Amino acid sequence: MITYVHTNIYKISEYARHLKSLEADDRYSRFGHPASDYNIDQLILQMCYHPKDHELWYARDDDKRVGWGHMAKNDDGSWELAVSVDKEFQRQGIADKLLTEMLEWAKFHHIPEVYMHCIENNKVIQHLATKHELKTKERGDGERTAAIEVPEPSIVEVSTQLFKEQDEIVREINRLRGKLANLWLNPSRQTD
Ligand SMILES: CC(C)(COP(=O)(O)OP(=O)(O)OC[C@H]1O[C@@H](n2cnc3c(N)ncnc32)[C@H](O)[C@@H]1OP(=O)(O)O)[C@@H](O)C(=O)NCCC(=O)NCCS
Repeated sequence: MITYVHTNIYKISEYARHLKSLEADDRYSRFGHPASDYNIDQLILQMCYHPKDHELWYARDDDKRVGWGHMAKNDDGSWELAVSVDKEFQRQGIADKLLTEMLEWAKFHHIPEVYMHCIENNKVIQHLATKHELKTKERGDGERTAAIEVPEPSIVEVSTQLFKEQDEIVREINRLRGKLANLWLNPSRQTD
């Protein structure tokens, strides 16, 4: 079963590995240009310098992370959304669910507007953008921008997200508690 997790900078090396493992066509549609490993390293470095401006989600099938959602805050306060799924796991609804998770988070955190770049011939992401009520606009350079003014969350959405984020914090506390116990039990053998 696929599970969806909102994560933080700890998983950044796995995100980098995922981006670098995208096949050439997927890498092109993810970045809008044939991004090199160097370009990906630059993006990861930016994320490390500004961790508060980046939010990550992943989809996990057992122990394998098979898809990622990324929201990045720009200098003007707008947020850009991107999503990518491993080839063998595509067309199973993973990007759809990642987009739902990201938009719920954006609503809860009162992000006024999010947008996503889609290359003109990427019909799948344009379909998903429309499905999630992002309006697509032609940019004239072979790309479209899909944007949405994020509405206020309903009471139900607020409480659902509240429990979700509380759960994330409890999991993080438990992880750190395990790490602390390990530190005391095996002082010379520290692992994450
Ligand atoms: C685009 C991408 C993220 C989609 O991921 P995915 O997990 O396969 O997408 P999903 O399975 O959630 O949804 C696919 C949807 O597209 C629809 N679809 C499939 N082929 C289609 C086509 N040719 N035209 C239009 N819609 C199509 C499916 O029916 C499904 O819609 P539904 O949810 O209404 O049934 C994935 O192909 C990918 O990683 N591409 C490379 C990176 C990228 O392009 N990212 C987007 C820019 S940031």
